[in-house]
Amino acid sequence: MKILVTGGAGFIGSTIVDRYIEEGHSVVVVDNESSGKRAQVNKKAVFVRLDVRDRKKVGQLVHKHRFHVINHHAAQIDVRHSVADPHHDAHVNIMGTLNLLEAAQTSKVKKFIFSASGGTAYGNCSRPAREGDPEVPLSPYGVTKLAGEKYIQTFSSLYGFKFTIFRYANVYGPRQDPHGEAGVVAIFSNKLLGNESPFIFGTGRQTRDYVFVGDVAHANVLALSKGDNQTLNIGTGIETSVLALWNKMASIRGASPRLIYKPLRPGELQRSVLSYSKAKKELGWAPSTRLKEGLSATLSFFEEKRQAVSR
Ligand SMILES: NC(=O)c1ccc[n+]([C@@H]2O[C@H](COP(=O)([O-])OP(=O)(O)OC[C@H]3O[C@@H](n4cnc5c(N)ncnc54)[C@H](O)[C@@H]3O)[C@@H](O)[C@H]2O)c1
Repeated sequence: MKILVTGGAGFIGSTIVDRYIEEGHSVVVVDNESSGKRAQVNKKAVFVRLDVRDRKKVGQLVHKHRFHVINHHAAQIDVRHSVADPHHDAHVNIMGTLNLLEAAQTSKVKKFIFSASGGTAYGNCSRPAREGDPEVPLSPYGVTKLAGEKYIQTFSSLYGFKFTIFRYANVYGPRQDPHGEAGVVAIFSNKLLGNESPFIFGTGRQTRDYVFVGDVAHANVLALSKGDNQTLNIGTGIETSVLALWNKMASIRGASPRLIYKPLRPGELQRSVLSYSKAKKELGWAPSTRLKEGLSATLSFFEEKRQAVSR
């Protein structure tokens, strides 16, 4: 298949590109390198430096290549930035998505795959959230990701192309950026490797659902042939507190730096966890990477990165 991956120079997008290339697909990456890195883009993919807000150029590119699938991962991903500058967040996340949908419709793209956010869609969870649960976004970023979902569903019913919307839990793994939704794993990795104390906000008992990037990429492979017109949570159904996460990572490294407690940040979610039972039914997907295994791989990645810089 011929596939466009937007945000394909970023953490999750570049991992998906690697998997698509392994599966023999032909991939074009669009990315403006605002947080992504061209060096992360698979050499077998065509890289186009382009901003998804550029309606004309996005239209021309999609028209030229006649893609079977658009996989849209480019986004403004920083929740705090979305609070500080909701206009910028909306321009990238809403207008960028709209430009791609318009281009998909006029160029007869068959399927649109979208990275939405389960970590911000449901608010505080008293049990693993399911796709039909009420939407309670607590930040402009949560709103723009949900707006993207609604535009995709509307364009699909107007123009007939298929979609799969993924609502990711907190994705972690090699290449991750400390500013993303599961940025804490990257932050803790760097603290541990530098033998520095991490900040813990509040009690550290707030929970998140950490899903490994390789498992997320696998879901994106399955969505090429399954999961049509579905919105699917991609998480593990397991809650891990910030303190438990730190303790697991510290034990992998055999380190125990002192913790520095700070006041809880306003608006921070206390519990976030996603049920993946619908993804299992529709895609045959289940997470296969245990947290300890994924954290070890992530720590090794950051260690190698540090060694490469100091060489
Ligand atoms: N990381 C998570 O835990 C998580 C959770 C839920 C959803 N998501 C979504 O997954 C997607 C990928 O996130 P990530 O964590 O890999 O972040 P990332 O920052 O590594 O990837 C985003 C990519 O988009 C590119 N980009 C940003 N603005 C752009 C623009 N205007 N034009 C073109 N390219 C642009 C960046 O350069 C980057 O390469 C995002 O849509 C994000 O909202 C991530």
